[in-house]
Amino acid sequence: MAYKLVRSEDLDFFRSVIGAEFVLVDEESLQRYGRDETENLLFPPEVVLKPTDTQAIQSILKYCNQQHIPVTARGAGTGLSGGALPHLGGVSLSTERMNRIVEIDERNLQVTVEPGVITEVLQNAVKEKGLFYPPDPSSRGSCFIGGNIAENSGGPKAVKYGVVKDYVLNLQVVLASGEVIWTGANVLKNSTGYNLTQLMVGSEGTLGIVTKIVLKLIPFPKHDLLMLVPFRNLEQAGEAVSAIFRAGFVPSALELMEINALKIVSKMVPDAIVPITDDTAAHLIIEVDGNNLDVLMQEMESIGALLMQYDIGEIYFADDAQQKAALWKLRRRVAEAVKLVGYTIEEDTVVPRAELPALIRGVKELGAEHGFEVVCYGHAGDGNLHIRIHHPGVPNSYGHAGVQTILRDLFKLVHGLGGTISGEHGVGLIQKDFMDIVFSPVNLDLMRSVKQAFDPNQILNPGKILPTASSK
Ligand code: LAC
Ligand code: ZN
Repeated sequence: MAYKLVRSEDLDFFRSVIGAEFVLVDEESLQRYGRDETENLLFPPEVVLKPTDTQAIQSILKYCNQQHIPVTARGAGTGLSGGALPHLGGVSLSTERMNRIVEIDERNLQVTVEPGVITEVLQNAVKEKGLFYPPDPSSRGSCFIGGNIAENSGGPKAVKYGVVKDYVLNLQVVLASGEVIWTGANVLKNSTGYNLTQLMVGSEGTLGIVTKIVLKLIPFPKHDLLMLVPFRNLEQAGEAVSAIFRAGFVPSALELMEINALKIVSKMVPDAIVPITDDTAAHLIIEVDGNNLDVLMQEMESIGALLMQYDIGEIYFADDAQQKAALWKLRRRVAEAVKLVGYTIEEDTVVPRAELPALIRGVKELGAEHGFEVVCYGHAGDGNLHIRIHHPGVPNSYGHAGVQTILRDLFKLVHGLGGTISGEHGVGLIQKDFMDIVFSPVNLDLMRSVKQAFDPNQILNPGKILPTASSK
């Protein structure tokens, strides 16, 4: 479908709505808003718009819908599936100026925010009131809550507390037509009609633009304990993960980091030191939290004892807040660190937890077969393994036939294990051509009908999530 190019009269209209200062067409801005954290991709928009309120977004969408100009919503640009890349041009609609925490409702344990609030800023604001918003993507210090909703983000805490979808109660959404709706109600239970709230979560800006968000909060747990367990065998680390749950424990984080990931990130974050021994293949990072410290200490001891059946090294306990922060800093910066040294292609596979060892084994075999280096890390407790690929001379999987073939094999393996192609990063641009592996043509047509109902002129983040009907 051909889209209309943005002309000077369109820019005049945008300027009249949000002010000339917030309509950017300079080359530097177009380049900046043409990138995110996905591979090394660059797709500049024709114009960047930075509105501050719902009404302005209504006017912009109504206009773009009539004029047939694509609109790609953008949060902080930390995405890993290319969802915010305006690959068909048009408008990059940045929510960065919509960054108010509207209300913290302490009576009902809820918070209402705008989409441009940084996730960690939100977490800290509610923590001051003794409240907890758990979803914590690694990029929480810079990513926006709006982007988290667009991708249905997770993070380490998801294993105990769930992902973004589990906290979203109600959303204000501007539709492609410019009309505005609330999707649900500010209540903890809701079986009233189709669940448009959950349909919006993870829809990557393809169905509407979220302008206000009501989230559920929980009381902040008083204590947490953290340990790092070295494994001499990577697959055994994967096996230990499901054993921990089978034994009756629910850690508040259960992360896996292959040794190369830790070595690479340790060089980038030299102030955050943890012991690394030569014979280690991978570590599990295990955290428990709750209100009773004695119970938590007992749990840590029991988990440690359980893990003695595996070939593990000496367990490192992060003793104080500083050591805990150092360990988390290392974990959170892995993606950035491995990307910098050439592991630019990241996959976000997820399998049923007990299939993790089979996934790890299969990934390593694929790497050996196709001659690429691979490093694994991620949210093992959720069966959500991030697979980073370093393919000599190939920085992008997108548009590279050879790497696409390898990824197809990888995703078939994942699907064969009962898993799917993205656990928390979304489909966006770079995974959409693999959707046929996990969905039948009937599924995909149903999804296309949903898209058509919300966005009949295909202006909202077009060309994302769904493969074009003819492509594989
Ligand atoms: C992480 C991001 C990449 O887990 O999802 O570090
Ligand atoms: Zn992750």
